[in-house]
Amino acid sequence: MPISLENGGRASVARAPWRDPAAHWKSIADATASVDAPVAVLHADAVRFNAHDIVRRASGKPVRIASKSLRVRSVIEALLELDGFAGVLAYTLPEALWLSETIDDVVVGYPTADRGALERLATSPRGAARVTVMIDSVEHLDLIDSVRAPAERETIRVCLELDASWRSRGPLGTVGVHRSPLHEPHELETVARAVVDRPGFSLVGIMSYEAQIAGVADRAGRRAYNATVAFMQNRSMAELLDRRGAAVERVRRIADLEFVNGGGTGSLERTTQDPSITEVAAGSGVFAGHLFDGYGHFAPAPAAAFGLTVVRRPEADVATVLGGGFVASGPPGPDRLPSPVWPAGLEYIPRESAGEVQTPLRGGAARSLRIGDRVWFRHTKSGELSERVDRFHWLDAAEDGIVRVTDDLPTYRGEGRSFV
Ligand SMILES: Cc1ncc(COP(=O)(O)O)c(C=O)c1O
Repeated sequence: MPISLENGGRASVARAPWRDPAAHWKSIADATASVDAPVAVLHADAVRFNAHDIVRRASGKPVRIASKSLRVRSVIEALLELDGFAGVLAYTLPEALWLSETIDDVVVGYPTADRGALERLATSPRGAARVTVMIDSVEHLDLIDSVRAPAERETIRVCLELDASWRSRGPLGTVGVHRSPLHEPHELETVARAVVDRPGFSLVGIMSYEAQIAGVADRAGRRAYNATVAFMQNRSMAELLDRRGAAVERVRRIADLEFVNGGGTGSLERTTQDPSITEVAAGSGVFAGHLFDGYGHFAPAPAAAFGLTVVRRPEADVATVLGGGFVASGPPGPDRLPSPVWPAGLEYIPRESAGEVQTPLRGGAARSLRIGDRVWFRHTKSGELSERVDRFHWLDAAEDGIVRVTDDLPTYRGEGRSFV
């Protein structure tokens, strides 16, 4: 049976059990007591809460699911069943081709140079009708042509990426990610014309991801830092509204676009206010890695977590669990480490931190931990945990309100797939 994310007025969603951490983590621990570690869980009502909250925050604009932030096919498919979600923003072409076996609208959010996958796309009528590739230069078109000439292939659906970074002239410099070289409206238009003028391609969309707004938490630091983030995000969004609007307008004059995609979990309220945007992207907010605890304008439920088992007690106030070095991508720093959330009051030992095989944790709570007990963590990011485990245990509350494992959901890894 596929899982359902309809909340249908569920009392457990309304009660938001995660707001009472002691009872919440105990219920998760009880439900998975007989499962050996590492054990990864998805709390069904927390996932439902987050999914519906994303739709609410998107204010009527369809939400394209950022699959890299989930990497669990059954969850992606369950989200697509909900009103408000439409299509997938995949992260590689092989992944997109795989997903397109069951999903009819998959945009690859990043350019590809995978010749084998391009060959498969170019020769698959169904794949070519369902999958859109990302480009930001004529070189990308040349690469596709070099794999298979236009006369010998399907028409390739193309999305153009507009750089959304803010080139501030002040001390902040350029903020945002270094992705597309197409920054100015006329630069986007030039490449759009190249796509439109070439046989074998169909220009169907524009994507422009404001990472500096979606991916930078505005309540994660001290007051001065947060104020700087707020300043940067206000100025950057104002600049982007004008520039993105002008760029989209120019391209719309020469191509009949199906979509203009922007934003991410952290920026839904702002991105939906941009009239040039027809849809938003979001994924991380569904599982809610702990990076998302630092945003002021929304509070996702901690839906994904993993449990590790205590295997030794080196000192009275230290308990060591097996595993734990699930460090997240991005600029290295303590915020990239999984957060030990339960029992409360455990912390890493700085000189050792989260280890490759073992992780010692120090704190008052460690004194009462015994060998075989479990410690619960949240990953920093949302999809990367799926690379560590074969499956998530789906914890759903029955009529009696008791949370039980009702399903096992394979991750991409569990299905034998790894894409980056
Ligand atoms: C192109 C693009 N769009 C949107 C997102 C936002 O995804 P999420 O909601 O998972 O943070 C990302 C994340 O990195 C992205 O790269």
